[in-house]
Amino acid sequence: MTDRETEEYYRKRAETYEEIYYRDQPDRRKEIDDEVIRVRELARDKSILELACGTGYWTKVMSETAREITSSDVSDEMLSIAKRKPAVAPVTFVQADMFNHVWPEVNFQVVAVGFWFSHQPRQEYDRFFDLISRPLVKDGSIWLIDNNPPAEGAGHELVRIDEFGNAYKRRYLKDGISYTILKNYFSETELRELFSPRFAIKRLTYGVYYWSMELGLR
Ligand SMILES: C[S@@+](CC[C@H](N)C(=O)[O-])C[C@H]1O[C@@H](n2cnc3c(N)ncnc32)[C@H](O)[C@@H]1O
Repeated sequence: MTDRETEEYYRKRAETYEEIYYRDQPDRRKEIDDEVIRVRELARDKSILELACGTGYWTKVMSETAREITSSDVSDEMLSIAKRKPAVAPVTFVQADMFNHVWPEVNFQVVAVGFWFSHQPRQEYDRFFDLISRPLVKDGSIWLIDNNPPAEGAGHELVRIDEFGNAYKRRYLKDGISYTILKNYFSETELRELFSPRFAIKRLTYGVYYWSMELGLR
C-alpha cells in the first residue's frame, strides 16, 4: 500500500513522534522496556532489515547487539532524526517505500517492523507477509510490535469502518490539521489466526498497551 495521507501524517509528526515512547505512565513504559531487552537479544550478532524505521527508536536498540542493520523509511523527515542517533553496529539508511523497493532476497537474519501492521489494510495482508518473508534467510526471524487500544491517545475518533473491516481514525497534529488514518487493533486470538497460516509463531507477547511477536518462516 502507498497511502499518501499516512505518509504525510508521519512526515509532519516526525519531530514529535517519539513522545509515544515517553508518556508519564510507568506500566506502559515498562512494556517498552521489557521489549527492549527481548529485541536486544533477538538482534544479537544478526544482520537485520528494518522497514518503516521512523525516528530509529528500535534501530538504536538493535544496533547495541546486531552485526549490521539496513533501516528504511519512506520519510526523509523521519530518517534525518534516525540518522542523528548514535548507533553501535553499522547502520545503512535507505529512503524507500517498502512496497516499491527491491530488497535483497534471502539475505537477512531478522526483518523488523515496528508499529506498521496496524496501518496495513486487511485486504493486503498477503502482500505484507510476502514483503517480510522474501528478504529473510530460512531460519530467520520476523519481529513486529504494535499498539493495543489503551495506547491510543485521546481525540482519535473513529471515522468509519470499510467493507474489509479496516477502521479509519481521525488524528490531529499540534498545528490542528487532521488526517484520516487506517488503524486496526487485534485481539490475541485474532493475531494467532492471522499469522499462524503463514508463519511459525515463536513468541507472542500480548500486553495491555502493546503486542509483539517473533515469527519464523514455515
Ligand atoms: C508508526 S511509525 C513507526 C516508526 C518506527 N518503526 C517505530 O516503531 O517507532 C510508521 C512509519 O512508517 C513510515 N511509512 C509510512 N508509509 C511507508 C511506506 N510505504 N514505506 C516505508 N515506510 C512508510 C512512516 O514514515 C513512519 O515512519
